[in-house]
Amino acid sequence: MSASTMGSGPNMGSGTDLTPKVHRFEAIVVGGGGAGLYAALALSKEKVQTAVLSKLYPSRSHTGAAQGGIGAALANVEDDNPEWHMYDTVKGSDFLADQDAVELMCNEAVETVYELEHLGLPFNRTADGKIDQRKFGGHTKDHGKGPVKRACFSADRTGHMILQTLYQQCIKNEVDFFDEFHVMDLILKDGVCRGVVAYEINNGSLHIFHAKAVLFATGGSGRMFKITSNAHALTGDGMAVALRRGVPLEDMEFFQFHPTGIYKMGILLSEACRGEGGIIRNGKGERFMERYAPTIKDLAPRDIVSRCIHQEVLEGRGVNGKDYVHLDLTHLGAEVIEKKLPDISDFVRTYMGIDPVKDLIPIQPTAHYAMGGIPANKDSEVVGDENNTVVKGFYAAGECACVSVHGANRLGTNSLVDILVFGRRAGLSMAKYCRSNDFAALPANADEEVKAQIDRLRSNSGEERTLTLRSDLQASMTDNCGVYRTEGTLKKALSDIAVFKSRFSKLHVSDRSQVFNTDLLDAMELCNLIDLARVTVEAALARQESRGAHYREDFQKRDDAKWLKHSLASLSNGKVDLKYKPVVMGKFPLQERKY
Ligand code: FUM
Repeated sequence: MSASTMGSGPNMGSGTDLTPKVHRFEAIVVGGGGAGLYAALALSKEKVQTAVLSKLYPSRSHTGAAQGGIGAALANVEDDNPEWHMYDTVKGSDFLADQDAVELMCNEAVETVYELEHLGLPFNRTADGKIDQRKFGGHTKDHGKGPVKRACFSADRTGHMILQTLYQQCIKNEVDFFDEFHVMDLILKDGVCRGVVAYEINNGSLHIFHAKAVLFATGGSGRMFKITSNAHALTGDGMAVALRRGVPLEDMEFFQFHPTGIYKMGILLSEACRGEGGIIRNGKGERFMERYAPTIKDLAPRDIVSRCIHQEVLEGRGVNGKDYVHLDLTHLGAEVIEKKLPDISDFVRTYMGIDPVKDLIPIQPTAHYAMGGIPANKDSEVVGDENNTVVKGFYAAGECACVSVHGANRLGTNSLVDILVFGRRAGLSMAKYCRSNDFAALPANADEEVKAQIDRLRSNSGEERTLTLRSDLQASMTDNCGVYRTEGTLKKALSDIAVFKSRFSKLHVSDRSQVFNTDLLDAMELCNLIDLARVTVEAALARQESRGAHYREDFQKRDDAKWLKHSLASLSNGKVDLKYKPVVMGKFPLQERKY
């Protein structure tokens, strides 16, 4: 699809000239992961002139880190149906997910997986040629009676295969790609979205993308933590931009810690390891999950398993008295490990120098997934307040969005379902919007604030270094806003963040060049992480209960009377304002969460 580019200025390799290039597309998709690519594909099929802006080369997006599978009740291997998937998702969410959205997602998961199959995704197969399925955490048969095989997979590379499949389809459909473009601002005036401002990493130039509709599919923000499975690029850019433009962020206090990260490195070892029969053992060699979740044991939802690991360590049953336990795959045999878990085997060999066929693997919980994000409805339209008022022309999907289908804790495989179902829905609803709306005028100087931000960073002569400041932020978030939180730790995190904010104003960007200036990019990303950490901690401090991934040692019970509600955190004039909106309930009433 042809792009229109206007008013280009001399912005390549010309010192600090930041005259922007202006482009015009009907639809702009920011983010080249699964949600963005599926939206772009749907838009292109509807003949909408579409461009994708991606900070990375799209097939390197973080969707690739979702290793183990896509949950969909195909019932290819054993009895299953979408209603059981809904039940598991709602119970897994600790009843904070909106049940109408969950119902839609679990139903559409089935057709979405078949569509992906038809687009060419190379799923593992059963002996009779159907898409194979495996067990995953929190997925059960008949309302909790035992684990069920629901995850459709491509070895332990499911996310990578999604990226390759969708990217190739987008190329075939002539979607325009702007790779290595970093989104810096949303152009929003009079409640109507009109485009975005982006920074081209390759040459330091600025670009204005004028559009009728904009989708943020920019992924998560796990890099605010020290131990994380998230890639370096996961700095919550879209969420932070929306927040600064006045869109409140929903349920930010809920951040998922995946139980099986490689010790000290956080690199993900897929839940598929346990889906294939792997076991977690404490320092005494005990399969301790039998005590905590007698029915589904190691396949309990992630919030529960992560807390149990923490508990074992606190009670002195970590390995060698340290803060880790073991993932044991040794009984699976070389063939299962090599064929069904090849990537994680490589990770273990490469990063730990051990052999998963023979050795126990040291693991600890790793910050993995933001359940919260930019509030969006079932058509992926961003909703800007507690009354769900739609922000015209602005859409969000994938990890940066909160629909909310995951509530307080996401089940494994449901991130891929979410990005695919709501990515595709975003594309379709944007296409409808583009057909019935003209381009709203671009405001004068749409890039003014971005220019000012870049100028400030470039001219700052302070002493602070991004790397040091980022490491301090990550350490404080892991220590004070991790698997367990208290009022004391959260207040400590808040006072640390206030100091980090002031240190940020003294940041020194030493690289003054234009070409691939990662020093400047790191600084821009750090600014996003600090703002997101602030709203995460404020929302966590306010929520005086324990629910899903948000565990308050000082308020250990779920409190439905007071807290069965979504938080909405806004940031204005340096202050966080918290509002709340009700959870959409449905056929699954509140119950105690036992597994
Ligand atoms: O464990 C995993 O393979 C990760 C998948 C997910 O986060 O859904």
